[in-house]
Amino acid sequence: MTDGRAMEDLVVGVLGGTGPQGRGLAVRLAAAGQRVLLGSRDAVRAEEVAGEVAARADAATGGVGVSVRGGSNADVAGAADLVIVAVPYAGHADTLAELATPLAGKVVVDCVVPMGWDELGAYVLDVAEGSVCQQAAALLPDSSVVGAFHHLSAVTLEDLSQPTLEGDVMVVGDVREATDLVQALAGRLPGMRGVYAGRLRNARQVEALTINLVSVNRRYKAHAGVRITDV
Ligand SMILES: NC(=O)c1ccc[n+]([C@@H]2O[C@H](COP(=O)([O-])OP(=O)(O)OC[C@H]3O[C@@H](n4cnc5c(N)ncnc54)[C@H](OP(=O)(O)O)[C@@H]3O)[C@@H](O)[C@H]2O)c1
Repeated sequence: MTDGRAMEDLVVGVLGGTGPQGRGLAVRLAAAGQRVLLGSRDAVRAEEVAGEVAARADAATGGVGVSVRGGSNADVAGAADLVIVAVPYAGHADTLAELATPLAGKVVVDCVVPMGWDELGAYVLDVAEGSVCQQAAALLPDSSVVGAFHHLSAVTLEDLSQPTLEGDVMVVGDVREATDLVQALAGRLPGMRGVYAGRLRNARQVEALTINLVSVNRRYKAHAGVRITDV
């Protein structure tokens, strides 16, 4: 599954793919040659956004032909080989609870950040299970849940005038084959690496670090990411 040819054949689904983060991951993965299914609560909206994403990815790659199709979140969960969850935290538990059956046996990649806002700025919300990824694992007992892509800004992902990204993707999970696969997927994005960063019980820090990055971005008017040194 992780050799070059098999990775190309992997169909990647994105739940909540109509939002900035889902669109950004979809356009970058499609431009890198990955077949992408973009999901929404509204299949018509998914098809519209998939068409826009495909056109942008196609233009960025010089019209070599990319594969992005849209559908309902349920259809995407059933049809994809690997599924990225890019819905807001407020909709995370309900979305996954409904999709446990089609997601069974699959790698589910969660990039959801439990973030609140108040007059002091962004802050981390408490998650009863310990982290959003652990909540996903509790709701999807027959899937391999992996945490990744939290530290990639949607603005940067969607800005195809920058063909090469800068930064690392911290990957957390309990199943080696699944984290290896997600690291390989992250490595398909030009300039990026997937770096293993611990078991799922360590997802909380990875999710929370995003909120530090949001604070960096507000202060410095930036779209900051992370780079792991000496690896
Ligand atoms: N934006 C970033 O830079 C960034 C960076 C790192 C991680 N993330 C994480 O990625 C996730 C998506 O971020 P985003 O900025 O793209 O979010 P968003 O625009 O608020 O939501 C993404 C999509 O989720 C669907 N959605 C909205 N409310 C929902 C609900 N209650 N239940 C199910 N689906 C719902 C919507 O699609 P439909 O209406 O078409 O179903 C929406 O287009 C978030 O959890 C965020 O923490 C974002």
